[in-house]
Amino acid sequence: MIPQSFIQDLLNRVDIVGVVERYVPLKRAGANYVACCPFHSEKTPSFTVSQIKQFYHCFGCGAHGTAVGFVMEYTGAGFVDAVKDLAQGVGMQVPEVKSERPRGKTEEGDDLYAVLLKAAQYYRQQLKNAPRAIDYLKKRGLSGEIARHFGVGYAPDGWQNLQAAFPDYNAKALVAAGLVIQGDEGKRYDRFRDRIMFPIVDQRGYIVGFGGRVLGEGEPKYLNSSETALFEKGRELYGLYQGRRAIRDAGRVIVVEGYMDVVALAQHGIGYAVATLGTATTPAHAQKLLRQAEEVVFCFDGDDAGRRAAWRALENGLEQLADGKQLSFLFLPQDEDPDTYVRKLGKEAFEKLLGDALPLSQFMLRELSSRVDLNTHEGRARLLHDARPLVKQVAAPLLSLLLRKQLAQMTGISQQELDAQFQVKSNAMAAAPRRSPPVQRSIVRWLIELVMVHPEFARQIERDALEPAQDVANINQAELKTLRAMLEAAASGETVVNWPEYFRASEHEGLLRQVEAGLLKRQEVNLSLDEVKAEFSGGWSQLLEQIRRGQLIALNEKSKKQELSSEDEDRYRQLSQTAPAAAQK
Ligand code: CTP
Ligand code: MN
Repeated sequence: MIPQSFIQDLLNRVDIVGVVERYVPLKRAGANYVACCPFHSEKTPSFTVSQIKQFYHCFGCGAHGTAVGFVMEYTGAGFVDAVKDLAQGVGMQVPEVKSERPRGKTEEGDDLYAVLLKAAQYYRQQLKNAPRAIDYLKKRGLSGEIARHFGVGYAPDGWQNLQAAFPDYNAKALVAAGLVIQGDEGKRYDRFRDRIMFPIVDQRGYIVGFGGRVLGEGEPKYLNSSETALFEKGRELYGLYQGRRAIRDAGRVIVVEGYMDVVALAQHGIGYAVATLGTATTPAHAQKLLRQAEEVVFCFDGDDAGRRAAWRALENGLEQLADGKQLSFLFLPQDEDPDTYVRKLGKEAFEKLLGDALPLSQFMLRELSSRVDLNTHEGRARLLHDARPLVKQVAAPLLSLLLRKQLAQMTGISQQELDAQFQVKSNAMAAAPRRSPPVQRSIVRWLIELVMVHPEFARQIERDALEPAQDVANINQAELKTLRAMLEAAASGETVVNWPEYFRASEHEGLLRQVEAGLLKRQEVNLSLDEVKAEFSGGWSQLLEQIRRGQLIALNEKSKKQELSSEDEDRYRQLSQTAPAAAQK
């Protein structure tokens, strides 16, 4: 156990702004710093970091915490690792934690991360002197810039080249890092020889292993680091670190099969692809992926192996799924992989293909029904039998409901009968809003403040989008009415200077006076025009997202009482699909 007093000291020493900035570029806004939230996808910033409070908070998804919490949430590190990471940055020594040896350190105390980093630097250096390797990369359409972005290198031919980088070639750390193989009779040799080297980087930006490709033909085509203390294939995703920015911006992540697919897609402007490392998609992968983006698209070859791989991904994704998140499946035309496809047809064609990806539910039902004859009782019974374990795993309550409905329809039984067979309780649905909205000042109120100060922004707004907010429980209806009235006034061309006066003696006056008084007291409204603009569109898209979630929650409630009409179901489908778009506004 790390003593609480140490954590306190640490938090006093560390500056959260610097910590967050290591991963997310921040912009100053008044007393705080803002950025697009790294924990949900959005186009405009609602993530704030307070230097004074040493706390971060996202007004969009409710994520919040201290520097330690941030490092844990962002990098997926455990508590101890996060504390160590921070302590190291400020030169503090974490009191020894008995039970485990620090990850990345060998018994002798060698730092494996440092070893891998050094090896990567060596391989990169060697690439510069290897025209054959450079030619190979060029032939595959890669620019120097992209090669650098991924830290691509070259391991020269020969058995003990690493000696040049590590004078003590006999160090245990080289074997522990998976770089050197200890042969029989005490002979040692480099694992990677005459290969293009792709460093595998974990979410914190540390190199944990390598993938090496032969130049041209040869077996095995790819050689990966052996699993080491640092490297577990089933957890890592190639390209996740390099693509983190693009993934956040796109609101989605594509999962492909190969190193070269990731790199080639990036070369063509699609930076949001990652690859599993020659393994099937694991639940740990699925969880990691769904944390990064609302939408995860698995992209596979169109052949049988691709279908099988897709099915594995589906099975492992079911439990990680939440309403509002989407998994889908894209099958490429025969004999293409993302690399060949994007090189031939370019970014737009590939993104168009992405648009046609099959949502998980469709893929599941299509696969299951293709295995049976739906015209016979036996076939339909088999369908239900096969679907049952899968449907029971679906963690998203509304999606589960829709799947059950559709299965019932396909097999000609009622949903009650199906639920009884599946032993699911129709009302066992958790109303699961992901995180509760902010408590302090509502978003609507924030927008009122902004319109008050800068009415010109209000004109650009699509007021109709506020319509459904009337039914959303956690939106203050009085504030909403006032905001609408203000937007209407602005849209009609009125130039209002004094809002409380303009609405004198109406239901809005009291609220507006309050808001005005509050504004005068606070100084954070001394934002630059650009910042106000950013705040405004950020606030607006948060509001839309809040409305969307509120509607989902209301539908959830309804379905608990089994009152969902078919329009409601359509609406649910729409709402859960428009997640990334809603934030675009
Ligand atoms: N793979 C592997 N070992 C092999 C072959 C493949 O680990 N012997 C993994 C690698 O991660 C590789 C992925 O499976 O990137 C896909 O393999 P494959 O489709 O055969 O190769 P491509 O990605 O198409 O590679 P390239 O385009 O370089 O031929
Ligand atoms: Mn390929």
